[in-house]
Amino acid sequence: MLYSADPDRRFRHFRKTWGYANAPLDGIWLRAPYLHNGSVPTLWDLLQPAAQRPKLFYRGNDLYDPRHLGFVADPPAANGRPLFAFDTTLPGNGNAGHEGAAYGTTLPDADKWALLEYLKTF
Ligand code: HEM
Repeated sequence: MLYSADPDRRFRHFRKTWGYANAPLDGIWLRAPYLHNGSVPTLWDLLQPAAQRPKLFYRGNDLYDPRHLGFVADPPAANGRPLFAFDTTLPGNGNAGHEGAAYGTTLPDADKWALLEYLKTF
């Protein structure tokens, strides 16, 4: 959009704020797995400290987990076909970061569940 030749579609109102420009979280409940490398299978796992997030999980299942908000990632196969094993210990697959009080990982569980309910509304 920023470089569109069509003047009606130019991105005109962007201005530098010297702040943090976040990526939109629209529909985040259905955008698992999370983080830039898809290394965290559910939003519930993203609200845990990195050391407690799954180290190995399976991607490609289309069965949704409405409690933890993500796709079911435990079984290595679904619908008769193997799923992709995502090993977070491999280079480039790390699931660390987005951790600490500002990121919600130290909240009591009740608050984390409430936060998931809120994120469902995005
Ligand atoms: C309770 C507070 C927060 C919640 C619920 C939250 C939620 C999320 C979610 C759901 C994602 C995953 C997006 C995706 O995979 O598409 C994400 C990613 C991200 N968040 Fe937050 N966030 C919080 C706090 C913060 C803070 C305080 C910062 C920075 C100051 C931040 C910076 C980022 C960045 C940079 C990413 C992308 C990380 C990556 O892709 O590897 N978040 N956040």
